[in-house]
Amino acid sequence: MEAELKNLEALILENAQTDLPLLTKVAEHILQSGGKRLRPALVLLGARGFGEVDERIRQAAQVVEFLHTATLLHDDVVDGADTRRSRQAARTIWGNEASVLVGDYLLALAFRMLTRLRNTEVLQLMSETTTLMARGELLQLTRDYQQRDLNQYLQIIHYKTASLFGAATRMGALLNGASAPQAAALHEYGIKLGMAFQMVDDALDYSEELNIGKAIGTDLQERKITLPLSHLLEHSAPQQQQRVEAILALEQIGPEEIAEVAAMMRDLGSIRHTLEAARQYVQEAQEQLSHLPDSGTRQTLANLADYVVRRTY
Ligand code: IPE
Ligand code: IPE
Ligand code: MG
Ligand code: MG
Repeated sequence: MEAELKNLEALILENAQTDLPLLTKVAEHILQSGGKRLRPALVLLGARGFGEVDERIRQAAQVVEFLHTATLLHDDVVDGADTRRSRQAARTIWGNEASVLVGDYLLALAFRMLTRLRNTEVLQLMSETTTLMARGELLQLTRDYQQRDLNQYLQIIHYKTASLFGAATRMGALLNGASAPQAAALHEYGIKLGMAFQMVDDALDYSEELNIGKAIGTDLQERKITLPLSHLLEHSAPQQQQRVEAILALEQIGPEEIAEVAAMMRDLGSIRHTLEAARQYVQEAQEQLSHLPDSGTRQTLANLADYVVRRTY
């Protein structure tokens, strides 16, 4: 897929050019700093099982990356994050206001490109997905840190992350005329993959050695009860639990507390537990692939799922 992705890379940067210097600067900053381009790759792979990767498919792939980039700009404002894609987060250079507005622009650009595809089913899918993503971030924002319900966590990560992964594979499949059951299987594959992906992200948030490109401990600072933290809270000795609760109740959570909690997680195996849970989802994602004809693309989708739990950034 290397050539296809490279081609896409050029198109993404080209289409982010505007006549507004601030807009172009912020968009270029975040778009040029890399990023795994996992979601556009899923569009291409979703499509490839059923036909050529043509202009429409490339457009759709850009749409998901623009949408994703918009959510990153917004998410860093919401999370107060300083690092993104191994660089300073845009908000620390141009401010929260510019980040929010450029995020809005990229979201609008994504939908403008989508309408050009003149495919109502795809437009509906992406509108629904964007709504879910916003709901996910809102649910997370309004969730009290005293709430530890695992199902709620699963719902949040489904909405904010897995929904776009699922939509990406489904969109590719739909645009190339996959049958309803095949599109459904690819959709489900993407959702399970996205669940695993966010769990790994939540594990990496506590792992200095593994995490590259983002600061560690942001989730703790934001008092987000993600899977590694709920594991720690549920399975550690009472004294440790009290200590973690005390940290969560602090006005400000700093690097020392982050290191302390990360060490407790390591000792208790909370990171390992989280990666195990992610592996379960990866397996479920791979099971969906049995509904598709055996092909190189199917194998690539299976390999991609394995990569998601091996990755370090
Ligand atoms: C970051 O996504 C946001 C999450 C859903 C965890 P990625 O880790 O795919 O971000 P980039 O695009 O590769 O930087
Ligand atoms: C991902 O959640 C949210 C989005 C879908 C943008 P995180 O808040 O964990 O993502 P990172 O860790 O900042 O990339
Ligand atoms: Mg974040
Ligand atoms: Mg994260």
